[in-house]
Amino acid sequence: MESQIIKSDRRVLIYGTGAGLELTIQALSEENCQIIGVTDRKASNRELPSWLNFIPLDSVCNKYDYIAIASLSYDGEIIDNLVGMGIGEEKIILPLKMNKADSITLRKKLLRPVHVKAWLKFYGVERISHLTGMQGTCDCLAISPVEATKFKDFKDYSLHVPDYQRLAVPLLLSKRIYEFNLPGDIAELGVYQGDFSAYLINLFPDRSLHLFDTFSGFPEESLNHENSEKVKQRGRDHFSDTNIDIVRNKLQGHAAGLYFYPGYFPKTAPVDEVEYCFVSIDVDLYQPTIDGLRFFYEKLIPGGYLMIHDYNFNLYPGVKKGVHEFCDEQGVTIVPIADFYGSAIISKPLATSFS
Ligand SMILES: C[S@@+](CC[C@H](N)C(=O)[O-])C[C@H]1O[C@@H](n2cnc3c(N)ncnc32)[C@H](O)[C@@H]1O
Repeated sequence: MESQIIKSDRRVLIYGTGAGLELTIQALSEENCQIIGVTDRKASNRELPSWLNFIPLDSVCNKYDYIAIASLSYDGEIIDNLVGMGIGEEKIILPLKMNKADSITLRKKLLRPVHVKAWLKFYGVERISHLTGMQGTCDCLAISPVEATKFKDFKDYSLHVPDYQRLAVPLLLSKRIYEFNLPGDIAELGVYQGDFSAYLINLFPDRSLHLFDTFSGFPEESLNHENSEKVKQRGRDHFSDTNIDIVRNKLQGHAAGLYFYPGYFPKTAPVDEVEYCFVSIDVDLYQPTIDGLRFFYEKLIPGGYLMIHDYNFNLYPGVKKGVHEFCDEQGVTIVPIADFYGSAIISKPLATSFS
């Protein structure tokens, strides 16, 4: 479905009145399609362009050649719904995903208004200007204005404003690691295009970074362990638009060394003596989360940290399941973090005293 080419002059009905509508209209206009209207499960609260007819879902007739899905987050569910209504898959198109190279840019454009809204709600206007424009001082934050400049260039890959907690928490943890002169390399399990890795090497400039990922999307073996149909539907294509060169380019100049472990984790887990002081686990799925926790906790130096992304994100319930099973096995607990997707931290007790 992703490589479909729409023939121009075709009549297209858009499905979705959410944040993806504007970009879908733009993408379809570039293809010279005739947009005959927009439908959705319920009428939208958003103001639609005056020329665009809203057609209730139960009144949609066959006067279109394609239905274009205007959502990147719920496309799987919408497709199921449409197919369930008897609409053939060949009629369903995903303009927001048609050019893979553009999908990240589109995703950013698409999510920006949503996250700016969430940001304003949680952190207030004042802090946005602190972090994005660096105006004023940052004395309300746990970090200095100079330190906060680190955030500017390391926006979370799906956000257009920095996810303050996601960036500030590892920054504070790195400060503790250096304060206690703790040794150890750093690792990321779940690298995708290397955006978070780029942030990590900035925090740990003298530590080797070990990067574990298929670099080709979710592996089938891991998806097979998922209970969530929604996650399974995301399929192997999810996060497949990457490769080692994209990541290597992003991490150029990290003199402390980069080690790539491409392929299915835990098969790629090395048998070596490497110890870690900080590991980010961001794999979205149950199986690599629990395997990652088992592997890296054992190799974590006392005082080191594991940071697990999406722990409190209900789209990926396997992450929480894996974390809880691991905590039960090891008798450890987590500290939940209020970042956008609800990360969690696990630490290993320090061998020496704090004083
Ligand atoms: C959410 S992305 C990582 C995003 C990245 N941490 C960032 O912040 O930019 C999840 C990644 O986990 C990888 N992944 C999931 N299961 C895996 C497994 N069993 N082995 C290796 N990689 C896996 C996927 O290929 C995908 O690139």
